[in-house]
Amino acid sequence: MEHRAFGRTGLRVPVIGMGTWQTFDVRGTVAAERRDVTDAAFETGATFFDSSPMYGEAERVLGATLEGRRARAIVATKVWTTSDAEAEQQIAAALECFGGRVDVYQVHNLAAWPRRLDRLAELRAAGLANVLGLTHYSSSAFPEILRAMQDPRVGAVQIPYNPFERAVEEEILPAAAELGLGVIIMRPLGQGRLLRQNVPADALEPLRRFGVTTWAQALLKWILSDERCHVVIPATSNASHMRMNAGAGRAPWFGPEERSYIAGLAGRL
Ligand SMILES: NC(=O)c1ccc[n+]([C@@H]2O[C@H](COP(=O)([O-])OP(=O)(O)OC[C@H]3O[C@@H](n4cnc5c(N)ncnc54)[C@H](OP(=O)(O)O)[C@@H]3O)[C@@H](O)[C@H]2O)c1
Repeated sequence: MEHRAFGRTGLRVPVIGMGTWQTFDVRGTVAAERRDVTDAAFETGATFFDSSPMYGEAERVLGATLEGRRARAIVATKVWTTSDAEAEQQIAAALECFGGRVDVYQVHNLAAWPRRLDRLAELRAAGLANVLGLTHYSSSAFPEILRAMQDPRVGAVQIPYNPFERAVEEEILPAAAELGLGVIIMRPLGQGRLLRQNVPADALEPLRRFGVTTWAQALLKWILSDERCHVVIPATSNASHMRMNAGAGRAPWFGPEERSYIAGLAGRL
C-alpha cells in the first residue's frame, strides 16, 4: 500500500482507507461480523477509517473492531450538529469509541463550523485530536467550504470525487493543494452506483499493466492518479471487496489517457 503525505499536517496516510456510512451502521451478530472487514483493511494496509455520529451505530461498531489495534489505525470522525450541547455528547461518545483520541476530527457538512472548529481546536490543544477537517458532499456548499478552508486551524478537507462528480477539480483541489491541506475523497464509487452495471472484462484489458483487474479498482485508481488526492475511503460490508479495493493502492498511476478512457467507460454506464 502506498502512503502519501497528508498535505502539510505531518501525517502520512495509506492511499486507500474505508468509510463506514451504512455499512457499519449495524447491530448484533452483523456488527461482530464487521471485524472481518476491518481485518481485511489491516491485512492490506488500508488503515485509515472514516466515520461520523450521523452514521448511527458506525462509530461504536468501528471502535469495537479496532480493539487491540487502535494505535495502528488513523481514525477520522466528525461532529455533526448545530447544538453545542449535542456536540459535547458526540465528542464524548467518539472519544469513548476511539480510545480517547481522534486523528482527524472533522466538521460534518460544515454544520455550525465556526463554533465547532473552536471546540475541536480546544480538543487538539488538550491532545485529544490531531488534524482538524471539514467535509461537504454537495457542490452547492463549495463556496462556503472554500472560505472555511482558509482558516489556519483547518488541516484537511473531505469532498466527493469520481468520474461523475468532478466539480472539485475547479477550485477545491487547487486550493487544497495551495493551502497544504490533507484531502480525503468520499463517495469514490458513487455510493456503489458506479458499480451496478458491469464493465466488460475486455474493456479493462488496457488497464491490466496498471495492476487493475476490476472496475472498482479502475475507479479508485482514477481518483488516486490525481496526486492532490491523498486517501479514498470506499465503504464496504464485505471483506473481499475491501481486499479488492486495497489492490488499487499502488503505483503505477494512470496518465491523462487512461483517465479519460475510464471517464469515457463510466459515461456509457
Ligand atoms: N458529508 C460527508 O462527510 C460524507 C458524505 C458521504 C460519504 N462520506 C464518507 O465517504 C464514505 C464513502 O462514501 P459512500 O459510502 O457514500 O459510497 P462509496 O464508498 O462510493 O460506495 C459504497 C458502496 O460501494 C459498494 N462497494 C465497495 N467496494 C466494492 C467493490 N469492490 N465491489 C462492489 N461493490 C463495492 C459497497 O457495497 P458492499 O458493502 O456490498 O461492498 C457500498 O454499497 C462513506 O462511507 C463516509 O465515510 C462522507
